[in-house]
Amino acid sequence: MYAAYTELKKAEKVKLYLAKHNLFNQDFLPVRELGHIYFPLRKRAKVPHAEITKPKFKFPQKPLKLTVESLLKNKLTTKQLKLLPKSQELVGTILVLEIPEELEKKEKIIAEAYLKVTHHVNTVVKKTKIHHGQFRLRGVKILAGKRTKETTHYENGIKLQLHLEKTYFSARTANERLRVSKQVKKNEQVLVMFAGCGPLPLVIAKNTEAKDIYSIELNPFAHQYALKNEELNKIHNWHIFHGDVKDILPKWKRKFNRIAMPLPKTGEEFLPIAIKRCKKGGIIHLYAFLNENDLSKEVRRINKAYSVKVLRKVKCGQFSPNVYRICFDLKVL
Ligand SMILES: C[S@@+](CC[C@H](N)C(=O)[O-])C[C@H]1O[C@@H](n2cnc3c(N)ncnc32)[C@H](O)[C@@H]1O
Repeated sequence: MYAAYTELKKAEKVKLYLAKHNLFNQDFLPVRELGHIYFPLRKRAKVPHAEITKPKFKFPQKPLKLTVESLLKNKLTTKQLKLLPKSQELVGTILVLEIPEELEKKEKIIAEAYLKVTHHVNTVVKKTKIHHGQFRLRGVKILAGKRTKETTHYENGIKLQLHLEKTYFSARTANERLRVSKQVKKNEQVLVMFAGCGPLPLVIAKNTEAKDIYSIELNPFAHQYALKNEELNKIHNWHIFHGDVKDILPKWKRKFNRIAMPLPKTGEEFLPIAIKRCKKGGIIHLYAFLNENDLSKEVRRINKAYSVKVLRKVKCGQFSPNVYRICFDLKVL
């Protein structure tokens, strides 16, 4: 193999030239020798500031990058390799995998491979049950690494302590939380119904000049985590309530500039009460799971059924091939 041979002080210039002209043979590593360096070349070529030689030694091969596929290629069949999970969710230091049934017998070695190649991961789990029940909890099974289902997640400038099975949380909706928080104006009074362990109230508290943020959550574990997270993030304008929105909200007199309703499954049941507690001209963020072909019809229905105007509809997650998590930003009339 040909090499470009130069003094160490000219190495950077030569390296840049080789990269620019696609001459550097990336499969091998350069070799240093007494104040000089040899760069492996893809082909013979003239290189400024370097001499072209054919060294007697062999260039060392570049170590192959570790991937899940490379680690498993002798342990799974080609068919099984094709079934490896395509999407993963990273919650704090826990990686959540969806393992197809056909790979269940190999799930431990698959998890070990993910643990090896994914940065900042201490635990690998698989989903055993999708979000269900009133608290919208999921089931997970630990497959590799540290035996814990509790972690601290970082997003949008907040720290969030949570338990994967005892509280609802989705790392995938981080952008939606930021989108909502970007709309919050100075001195707004905000209510987050269905607050879980507190990601949305925290993102709003950390990133806006809202005056007060109120939140309500029914799940006692999620409520406890919200209290911890308030402390962890040193937030002072977040007022956290534990109980059912249906019991708590009708007792309140205060009205809000903005109400978020992140409960797509049954959230609309609570829309009449949200409208009552929202100031005229205020904004409600209503979530729903919908087929994308039904969106325009839904906008017309909501505009007709309630005293609101749909300002926009935003896709903020995918549930199944045509079904999306949609946020309707509503203006109260
Ligand atoms: C889809 S999760 C969203 C949690 C959180 N906002 C988040 O994004 O991580 C919905 C939450 O609403 C809570 N919830 C369900 N029904 C409720 C009700 N009637 N009153 C208060 N909270 C409720 C559930 O316990 C769950 O934590």
